[in-house]
Amino acid sequence: MSHVIELRNISYSYSNQVKALDRISLHVSQGDSVALLGANGCGKSTLLKVINGLITADSGAFDFDGTAVNGRKLKDPQFSRRFHKRIGFIFQNSDAQLFCPTVYEEIAFGPQQLGISGDEARKRTEDAMRLLQISTLADRAPYHLSGGEKKRVAIAAAVVLNPDVYVLDEPMNNLDPKTRRFLRQLLIRLNQAGKTLICATHDFENAGDIFRKAAVFSADHRLIRVDDYEKVIRDRAFLEAQNII
Ligand SMILES: Nc1ncnc2c1ncn2[C@@H]1O[C@H](COP(=O)(O)OP(=O)(O)OP(=O)(O)O)[C@@H](O)[C@H]1O
Ligand SMILES: [Mg+2]
Repeated sequence: MSHVIELRNISYSYSNQVKALDRISLHVSQGDSVALLGANGCGKSTLLKVINGLITADSGAFDFDGTAVNGRKLKDPQFSRRFHKRIGFIFQNSDAQLFCPTVYEEIAFGPQQLGISGDEARKRTEDAMRLLQISTLADRAPYHLSGGEKKRVAIAAAVVLNPDVYVLDEPMNNLDPKTRRFLRQLLIRLNQAGKTLICATHDFENAGDIFRKAAVFSADHRLIRVDDYEKVIRDRAFLEAQNII
């Protein structure tokens, strides 16, 4: 399998002051499913933002599908569009990513941005809503939905673009048990269809069979272990030492 994501010695500090990532190296193959584990504030969300191109590393290298990604390239609209089409990002906080007046428009926004219009856009939008079981919410305002409904809309807005890689930041947060089960099945199906999953999670004990690998952060913002998922979650002493359980 080829590496779709390759991070080498990535460091990042907010405002050049608050250290968030310290020399992170991680390789992710196409079709892989990787959980990012670690205590609050260790850098999981920051790493996902680097992978999604929302921020660029202070140092180190990031290749996506064999091509270097950096601040200069992301400023090129053509490169940026191609890159973002291939990575779907589901934020930790859904409110930060929902901004359209209706659910339908929210999900149709991505295809429109990519120049897909008319019947094709409508079909894709309706398919994504059906997959996430939110067709009845089409005319509602995303802002006024429940947390779990918002999460489904945010996921539909990613699914509609059919990206190769899904980057998810604590997708199970604040979801009821039925919605968690639904999302878990969806992630498994996406992965079985060949999609790559990279997911920050604290809910790792209920996430078995979604992930093949775990990447574990230390409190000082380093990646200290990348290993078989089951092996990591059975290693209670290790998880306790890292303040994960
Ligand atoms: N916008 C920001 N400005 C300044 N510092 C930030 C910002 N976002 C995060 N940080 C800091 O960077 C570090 C890493 O934060 P990050 O959000 O990546 O952690 P996390 O592993 O996702 O934590 P959690 O499990 O709580 O979501 C923390 O010390 C945090 O306080
Ligand atoms: Mg986070």
